[in-house]
Amino acid sequence: MGLTEYIVMRELNYPDINSFAGYRRVGGWDAYAAALKTKTPADIVQVVKDAGLRGRGGAGFPTGVKWSFLPRGVFPRYLLCNCDESEPGTFNNHQIIDRNPHQLIEGVALSAFAIESSTAYIYMRGEFAAAAITLERAIADAYRAGFLGKNILGTGYDLDIYVHRGAGAYICGEETALMESLEGKIGQPRLKPPFPAVAGLYGKPTIINNVETLANVPLIVERGVDWYRSHGTEKSPGTKCFSLSGHVNRPGNYELPFGVPLRELIESPEYGGGMRGGRPVKVIIPGGASAPWLTAKHLDTPLDYESVAAAGSMLGSGAVIVLDDSVKAPHLAYKMDEFFKHESCGKCTPCREGTHWLVKVLHRMAEDGHGEPDDIQTLHGIYTQMAGNCFCLLGESAVMPIKSALQLFAEEFEAVIAASGHTIEQGNGRHTIALAPSKPSRGRFG
Ligand SMILES: Cc1cc2nc3c(=O)[nH]c(=O)nc-3n(C[C@H](O)[C@H](O)[C@H](O)COP(=O)(O)O)c2cc1C
Ligand code: SF4
Repeated sequence: MGLTEYIVMRELNYPDINSFAGYRRVGGWDAYAAALKTKTPADIVQVVKDAGLRGRGGAGFPTGVKWSFLPRGVFPRYLLCNCDESEPGTFNNHQIIDRNPHQLIEGVALSAFAIESSTAYIYMRGEFAAAAITLERAIADAYRAGFLGKNILGTGYDLDIYVHRGAGAYICGEETALMESLEGKIGQPRLKPPFPAVAGLYGKPTIINNVETLANVPLIVERGVDWYRSHGTEKSPGTKCFSLSGHVNRPGNYELPFGVPLRELIESPEYGGGMRGGRPVKVIIPGGASAPWLTAKHLDTPLDYESVAAAGSMLGSGAVIVLDDSVKAPHLAYKMDEFFKHESCGKCTPCREGTHWLVKVLHRMAEDGHGEPDDIQTLHGIYTQMAGNCFCLLGESAVMPIKSALQLFAEEFEAVIAASGHTIEQGNGRHTIALAPSKPSRGRFG
């Protein structure tokens, strides 16, 4: 199911695409130049809509549909490219910038033209210092060639692109916290509605898209809807850069058509190359730390938004974390929730307190090896009070690891309790709690 021609990881076809001259040699910036001269912004929105491009930042929301939510006649408008990329297991945005930066800049420029914006910001994760320099150089190349600035190519269209580095907070990838941070405020989420398309950066209509989403746009515009839709599935068209990590032999980014079976990604010698030391798969987290866990019985699940949801999880950012049987569930839940506790911005009580108490109990169980008789009930009580009650999806995401761990591997928590000298009886363990979905949670990214 591999690709002969890549859409985003095009350095695999054209090794010098990371230079401006190399990008121009493969037709880079031609789609943009032609669009400015021969197409209207509405034409570009329509082609992206018809291609079925879906946001790669987590929710898979249709990009062209999002663009058409902008209120008519309200200016200025802003385009924000989200390169905060802090979700554990997700590392493809960084690679796109490193190896194919000009395509991202052209994608930002085409998308800004489509939404009639003259100012775009690329919000970078604070730690991506070298990547920020790479982008700034690529932007400077585009200015020098006349693709950015004032009256571009004599068409009357103006566009400036700025790179902004955050200070290294996961919450600043959440779109409203990102805007707060960009405005120079503390990076904490805003209440929605209003949604950014209506009142976003500086209170103006704003579109926020992920790096991989925007990097798809030049080839969609250049080659058209049918070509794009010849990849992937009907509802998840195109390709996805899967970030594969964990106990596989060949971790890395693999661009494959949506719908590739999980087993192929993990086992194919061209991709994951199978499990390290031939050990069995125990847990698969198919969409970054925020996604519910799957197990070996899900290995034949096609990797598209609908199929992964039907299997009980979410494709999220496409970060596929695969763990073998050397990992204990309480330890895994502890490490995941420790991340969410650390990154909780503290604005709302269910997340601030909930992550604190989850980690306190999980640390004692997983790291100190000490269990109390009612630990399972306590953990269940904490996460059910968080689910559906957090101000933003970071808190909702923190529910996923512990909920998955208890649903799938309750006996490992019981073993810690038993090893501490307590008897698991009716009333002090999982037997009294419904290890089933409690309150419906809203999923990972909105
Ligand atoms: C806690 C949190 C962190 C997020 N981090 C990122 C991120 O690093 N990159 C990203 O593109 N989207 C991230 N998102 C999703 C964004 O809020 C937003 O939905 C996305 O950038 C939209 O882009 P898309 O439509 O192209 O997917 C995050 C969401 C949450 C709740
Ligand atoms: S859920 Fe967590 S990260 Fe989101 S606002 Fe509340 S405290 Fe902040």
